[in-house]
Amino acid sequence: MPSQHTVIVGAQWGDEGKGKIVDYLASQYQAVVRYQGGHNAGHTVVVGQEKHVLHILPSGVLNSATVNIIAHGVVVDPAQVVLEMNRLKASGIFLDPTKLRISAMASIIHSYCSLLDKARDSDAAQTKIGTTGKGIGPAYEEKITRKAIKVQDLLNKDMLAQKLKSIWKERSIILQDLCRDSGFGASIPSVEQEVERLFELGKILAPFIGDEMELLDAIDAKGGNILYEGAQGVMLDIDYGTYPYVTSSSTALGGVYTGGYVPASGISEVLGIVKAYTTRVGEGKFPTELFDETGNYLQQKGNEVGATTGRKRRCGWLDLAQLKYAAKVSRLTGIILTKVDVLLGMNELKVGMSYQYQGKIFDRYVMGMNLNEIEAQYHNCRTLQGVIVPEMTKKDLPDAVGSYVALIEESLKIPVKYLAYGPQRTQLLKL
Ligand code: IMP
Ligand code: MG
Repeated sequence: MPSQHTVIVGAQWGDEGKGKIVDYLASQYQAVVRYQGGHNAGHTVVVGQEKHVLHILPSGVLNSATVNIIAHGVVVDPAQVVLEMNRLKASGIFLDPTKLRISAMASIIHSYCSLLDKARDSDAAQTKIGTTGKGIGPAYEEKITRKAIKVQDLLNKDMLAQKLKSIWKERSIILQDLCRDSGFGASIPSVEQEVERLFELGKILAPFIGDEMELLDAIDAKGGNILYEGAQGVMLDIDYGTYPYVTSSSTALGGVYTGGYVPASGISEVLGIVKAYTTRVGEGKFPTELFDETGNYLQQKGNEVGATTGRKRRCGWLDLAQLKYAAKVSRLTGIILTKVDVLLGMNELKVGMSYQYQGKIFDRYVMGMNLNEIEAQYHNCRTLQGVIVPEMTKKDLPDAVGSYVALIEESLKIPVKYLAYGPQRTQLLKL
C-alpha cells in the first residue's frame, strides 16, 4: 500500500471525537502531528478503564510505536506540556524524545497571554467570544505581530528577557487597564518572574525540542504513514469559520500546510470527523440549535461537557448545509461519523438540510452569513432503533442507521468510512 498521509479535521464546531479517532488510527501511523491551536483543545481518549484527557499532547501518545509531534503552527504553554507528561507518567506512560517532539519554532503561550485572554473575554467585555481563557488569541497575535517567544527561546535566558520586556511594554498598558476592570490584576507576574518560570520549563523540555521537517521527510522517504491531528473544527476557523465567534487558528485543511509540514508525497486523505448531531460551546449561535428538552436530552445522553472548561455544550440536530460547506473548504475525502449511539432510541430525529436566509433557500452555509438570521429547513428521519455491535458492516447496521449514513453520503457525496458508537477504542466500525 502506498504511504498514507491523512488529515483529521473537525467538520463542525469541535468536540466531534477527533481524539478517540486519532488514538485508534495512530497504531497504523509512524507519526502524529498537531499543527494548530493549543491547549484550548480537549481530546478525550478512553483505553480500557482509563480515561485520558489531552489538551496539548497529540492523541497518538497512548500508542507506543508512534512519534508525536507538536509542530510549528501550534501555540504551546510549556507548563501544560509538562503537566500532561507528568499525568501520563503517573499512569505508566513515559514519553521520551523518540515519542514526543516539539518544534523549536512553535510559539509560546505565557502568563500575559492567558491573563489578557481572560480579561478581554470577561463578562464586562463588549464582544464576548466565550474563549477557553487559555491565551490562544493573544499568543497568535504575538506570532503575527512578530513578537512571539518561540520554543527555542526557552533555552536562552537573554532572549527570553529581551522578548518578554518588549511584549510587556505594550501589553502592560492594556493588561493593567483591563485587569483592573475584570479583577485579574492581582495575578500579573513581573517580567523577571515570568522569565525564570519559562527558563525552568525550558530546561525540562530541552531534550524534546527540535526540527520536525527532517523527521517527517525521513518517515516519508521510507514510505511511512503520517497522521495530522486537527483541533477544534472547520466552523471555528479564523478565516472560514463563523467570525468573530471562532478560534484564532486555521482549523480547516489549510492549517496543515502552514502549521504542520507536509513532505513531498503530499496529503492522501482528509477525514472529516462528524458527530451524529451538532454541538457548540462558547458564544455564537448555530442554525440547528435546540433550545428545548430534546437539546437537553442530547446534552445529557451525549455527556456534552467541555473537556477543557467544563462548560455544557449546546446541542442540536445534524446540519448537512453546514457540513457541505465544511466538506468544501477542507476538501474532505471521507467522513467518520461519531456518537451514533447517542441517537439510538430517541423518538424523534431531524436533520438540517438547507437554510432559509434573507428570503432565499441555500443548500449550504455561505461565508459571512449572519447566524442569527439563518432558519434551518429540516428533514424528518426515521428514528434510530436497535443495537450496534462490533464487526457490523454497512449492510448489517440497523435499518434506520443505514439510512442515516446513506443520507449523509448522498448529500455530501463523500463516503462514511468509519462509524463510532461509544467511547471505547473498540466501539468503532470500519464501513
Ligand atoms: P479560544 O480558542 O479559547 O480562543 O476560544 C474561541 C472559541 O473557540 C470559543 O467559542 C471556544 O469555546 C471555542 N473552542 C476552542 N477550542 C475548542 C475546542 O477544542 N472544542 C470546542 N470549542 C472550542
Ligand atoms: Mg474537545
